[in-house]
Amino acid sequence: MAAADRFAPDLLVRLERDGRPLRLQLEEQLREAIRAGRLRPGTALPSTRALAADLGVSRGVVVEAYAQLVAEGWLVAGQGARTRVAAAARQAEPRATPAPTGPRVRIDFRPGLTDLAAFPRREWLASLRRVLREAPDAALGWQDPRGERALRETLAAYLGRSRGALADPERIVVATGMTQALVLVAGALRRRGARRIAVEDPGFHIHRDALAHAGLEPVAVPVDEGGIDTDRLAAAAPDAVLVTPAHQQPTGVVLAPERRAALLRWAEETGALVIEDDYDAEHRYDREPVGALQGLAPERVAYLGSPSKTLAPSLRLGWAVLPSALAGPVGEEKLRADLGSPVLDQLALADFIERGELDRHLRRTRRSYRRRRDALVGALARLLPAARVTGIAAGLHALVLLPEGTDEAALVERALERGIALAPLAPMRVAAPGPPGVLIGYANVAETAIERGVAELAAIAGELGSA
Ligand SMILES: Cc1ncc(COP(=O)(O)O)c(C=O)c1O
Repeated sequence: MAAADRFAPDLLVRLERDGRPLRLQLEEQLREAIRAGRLRPGTALPSTRALAADLGVSRGVVVEAYAQLVAEGWLVAGQGARTRVAAAARQAEPRATPAPTGPRVRIDFRPGLTDLAAFPRREWLASLRRVLREAPDAALGWQDPRGERALRETLAAYLGRSRGALADPERIVVATGMTQALVLVAGALRRRGARRIAVEDPGFHIHRDALAHAGLEPVAVPVDEGGIDTDRLAAAAPDAVLVTPAHQQPTGVVLAPERRAALLRWAEETGALVIEDDYDAEHRYDREPVGALQGLAPERVAYLGSPSKTLAPSLRLGWAVLPSALAGPVGEEKLRADLGSPVLDQLALADFIERGELDRHLRRTRRSYRRRRDALVGALARLLPAARVTGIAAGLHALVLLPEGTDEAALVERALERGIALAPLAPMRVAAPGPPGVLIGYANVAETAIERGVAELAAIAGELGSA
């Protein structure tokens, strides 16, 4: 049997048994599908034998229809090769404008990236293989939308030992990233009558926007060296607050002990919910670990986390550890949102953590991230001495505050034109004033490139008159 005979991709064709010749119907439908762009140039068609069997016609009908369309230039057929839609086949629809490709990024200082080249591919693959081999067939069916029991149990133990969280698998909901977990919590709050949610200013704008999109009104509360201003928070009287206590995004400050106490007291007294975004707490370099707030008040705090900052953001996994009254409603939100997160990936993550691979990976990356951070801080001190660097005791990025008057947008834009990507501070600000700045992620950039990148940024700052 020739290769083409075994080739049987599905093709949507419906022939009417109304007396019109079947060959003509088939030709018309293929021509129309090509003209409309449903069959794109280069698409391989099923073999004549396979299509004839699918359509319940004799093979000759398909052979003749293909031959006619080849003659007209719609299809091409090589000797013994598959028949394909011709590369030059006319498209009725104008092609979508290709997305602008932008300059190539040579040095990727965008915050929020792990060292992507250090992703533990071998170990992750071993976990994936293991779960695929060992999972029963039933695991491939519909599962608990709150997430795989194995992962929820593993997370409960991991978050307890590494973050001091008090996590019961029954109060964990697995999501596609911490961001979805936040949206699910916001949805559940909204349905229970919440209207306003306090957010940090400056704070992570993507989450502020996600909360507004979920129907809650974000109320900005200023952040200073001690973290969110709890007096201003209490005065704003929101139904909930989203905070990053272990490493404030973007300033990098730790929520001061008296503020932690004040925050939990406020939540206790008012019945408001504290949403704790523990996004990069595993990465700390020269300070004591800061435990999760949730461990101190598990009925007042929803704890959110993900492997985006420990492994890679593309895994799109995350979790919420919830107060008991919210566990059911957030599980419902997840059910309504998408019926659950990918099961094999959840099982792989559980296996990966259980085998100690996450701990091993963190130990390795913590060392290299610390070297990269030191390289960044050193280069900034030498090459951009007018800048003030904060938030470097933990996390994967530094906040670099620039002299007043610096056009941070121009700096970021000009850097990107030269292949250096970084993030401006302005989108993270709401109302609280402060100097211009940029966020420089260092985890995904080798030390030598960090030095080069900072030198280029310093040159651009000089051109803009702000070095
Ligand atoms: C403050 C903050 N929280 C959480 C995340 C990660 O979200 P996710 O788990 O959805 O990838 C980020 C990513 O940049 C972040 O900056």
